[in-house]
Amino acid sequence: MKSIKDLKSLAGKSVILRADFNVPIKDGKVLDDFRIKKVIPTIEYLQKKGAKVIIISHIGDEGKESLLPVAVKLKKSIKEVEFIGTPIFSDETEKRIKALKNGDIVLLENLRRETGEKKNSPSFARALSRYGEIYVNDAFSVSHREHASVVGITKYLPGYAGFQFMTEIENLSKVFTPTHPFLFILGGAKFDTKIPLIKKYLRTADTIFIAGAIANDFFRAKGYEIGTSLVGPVNFQVPLIMKSKNLILPIDVEVTKNSKNHFTRASDVMPDENIVDVGPQTISQLKDLINKAEFILWNGPLGKYESGFGGATEEVLKLISKSKAKSVIGGGDTAALVAKLKIEDKLGFVSTGGGATLDFLSKGTLPGIRVLK
Ligand code: 3PG
Repeated sequence: MKSIKDLKSLAGKSVILRADFNVPIKDGKVLDDFRIKKVIPTIEYLQKKGAKVIIISHIGDEGKESLLPVAVKLKKSIKEVEFIGTPIFSDETEKRIKALKNGDIVLLENLRRETGEKKNSPSFARALSRYGEIYVNDAFSVSHREHASVVGITKYLPGYAGFQFMTEIENLSKVFTPTHPFLFILGGAKFDTKIPLIKKYLRTADTIFIAGAIANDFFRAKGYEIGTSLVGPVNFQVPLIMKSKNLILPIDVEVTKNSKNHFTRASDVMPDENIVDVGPQTISQLKDLINKAEFILWNGPLGKYESGFGGATEEVLKLISKSKAKSVIGGGDTAALVAKLKIEDKLGFVSTGGGATLDFLSKGTLPGIRVLK
């Protein structure tokens, strides 16, 4: 794959840079700028080399949100950034792009406002490509999507990978040849996207520890009561997978009932209780596994962190940050907690990807990678 380092002359060239600024926004302010910060080295590199940088991104799923708060945040790190809030294909946008000088940087409005983006429409990709001479993808976290700005556009422009894109591939690929003991911690929900991962890593991981909502599916398959807890649709592969000796489930859990919470054995949950996190015995079980591990892969929170039950996830993240193991942490929610705890520099690698990271770990490639090859 070609990276921006392979580009000989960038001075005066119009570069379309695909970033993933799909970040949480509240009251017009960016809540977590992890993904924004990670693209800055690529933007600065292109700027220093004298390119005219046209950044494109999506935010949200349906194009309702604006990227203006992201531009405001980005401007705090790179003051030259200007936001073009007019529709991507409008006279005003075209005029401002034509007027760009070397080293100028603009951010266009949310790509998903255009219907051609998610459909990977060739005419949309082609029209987008006319704004630049070179295409750079530094949006690893959306590269599992066959969208126009990720895949289609590479038919019309020479494509290169940005720095964060390369870093993601380099670090996530370490999971394919891990050192042992290799501990894989898998939490969160979205059971169907995770079952291929469990199947694949049962072959290479010494231990797979399952927590989060997906553990509820395993509890149910074991015949345990799970009360009102979140579960996926019944999956017939679960009982089969459960037979594997290297698969471990939480021993105890935190449950809520009428706004009160307490810890209980995973096998003793009552019909009116809701599992929200793992318990202290489980954390000490994990502590032993973490201390013995040479390599740790973690995806997805251990509890319902979005409802305020991030306690165990935070504790376990701190344990990993103190351990000697090499670690790869993926998934938007887990990465947000890393940012909150300010321990990124004590962990091996924290991925910017959610779905993209899961897909890469299970398939070894992504549509956005294939088109740059
Ligand atoms: C993400 O947040 O995982 C990426 O930005 C992709 O977003 P999407 O799931 O809406 O395609």
